[in-house]
Amino acid sequence: MTDDVFSPLAIRETTIRNRFTLSPMCQYSVEERDGLATDWHRVHLGSRAVGGAGVVLTEATAVEERGRITPEDLGIWSDAHRDALAPVAEFVKSQGATPGIQLAHAGRKASKTRPWDGSEPLQLDDGGWETVAPSAVPYPYDEDPPVTTRLDAAGIADVVDSFRAGARRAREAGFEIAEIHAAHGYLLHEFLSPITNHRDDEYGGSFRNRTRIVREITEAVRDEMGDGRPVFVRISATDWVDDRDSWDIEQSVRLADDLSELGADLIDVSSGGIHPDQTVDWVGPNYQLRFAERIRNECDTDVKVGTVGGITAAEQADAIIRNDRADLAVVGRKFLEDPHFPLHAAVELGREDAVDVPVQYQRGF
Ligand code: FNR
Repeated sequence: MTDDVFSPLAIRETTIRNRFTLSPMCQYSVEERDGLATDWHRVHLGSRAVGGAGVVLTEATAVEERGRITPEDLGIWSDAHRDALAPVAEFVKSQGATPGIQLAHAGRKASKTRPWDGSEPLQLDDGGWETVAPSAVPYPYDEDPPVTTRLDAAGIADVVDSFRAGARRAREAGFEIAEIHAAHGYLLHEFLSPITNHRDDEYGGSFRNRTRIVREITEAVRDEMGDGRPVFVRISATDWVDDRDSWDIEQSVRLADDLSELGADLIDVSSGGIHPDQTVDWVGPNYQLRFAERIRNECDTDVKVGTVGGITAAEQADAIIRNDRADLAVVGRKFLEDPHFPLHAAVELGREDAVDVPVQYQRGF
């Protein structure tokens, strides 16, 4: 029988109830610049579970304090962070959704103000901090980028350990999925792309060397999550920069196979973010699906893929799964506009049988 967007998906010992996945989206809503989850995170993520999502992924959650994009980002660098996130995972699970966390490090794109404060580089005398990257080249903001320091071998080992500790805390907090954020020009993508990685040690140069830190982190996170829980990796399938050596879909296919062999279950396929010179050829419905499809079709392993980008309609999400083009329909902005997108999709597609409308809300549906 053909799967559709309401078909459950079993990965290891976890069964996801349907394919609607809340894409990680920063909320910039930590109150004391301490990385601790607040009522906002509990309500925001909880609402999407109530609304019928199969997977609820947290925003980029920093494994180190200096790995936050803004001071208002979530973190998981201490046990106090774990304890603040545990109620999120517990409530999401109580509503039948699978709670996941995106483990992240912003690298040279850290230390910025929130979008509604301009997304400007945040200076040291204004609560900002020095950023780290594979090479000492700051993100080319128009003016005043924060100082960017090259990680040495010990610094890289610390980052790998931070992802490991983050995964351990995530598991202890009750998250069933860990997604490693290796996309959008943040630290791990900075290692992958020759645009930002100018190293000549074992973490730079060849494909094998540039991908080493992501492989090490995937192994560490797989180890901490245990055999039963899924591990996802979000990547940018292309840098969208063609006039110099860059990261592209062919390398993404190779990396997906390598990560799958190390225990990654699903590649969450996005694109771009490494450099302001990027030229995205077209943005619209399913605009990144072609990359997810290529990874799915060209990999030797049977790694699963999620597609994200421009999914806004019930039939569209359903068709992605029915036509066997991806395993998860990962939805960002549509979920901001409609927390009940999956429930509404079920009504629209005549599939009320396939979702659990909370008893409290049944008179509204
Ligand atoms: C994002 N995006 C994003 N991606 C990610 O991997 N981690 C994150 O924390 C964030 N944060 C974030 C915040 C906000 C407000 C938006 C709108 C987006 C990207 C997001 O997950 C998604 O990939 C894109 O929005 C494209 O999908 P949609 O919105 O077209 O469904």
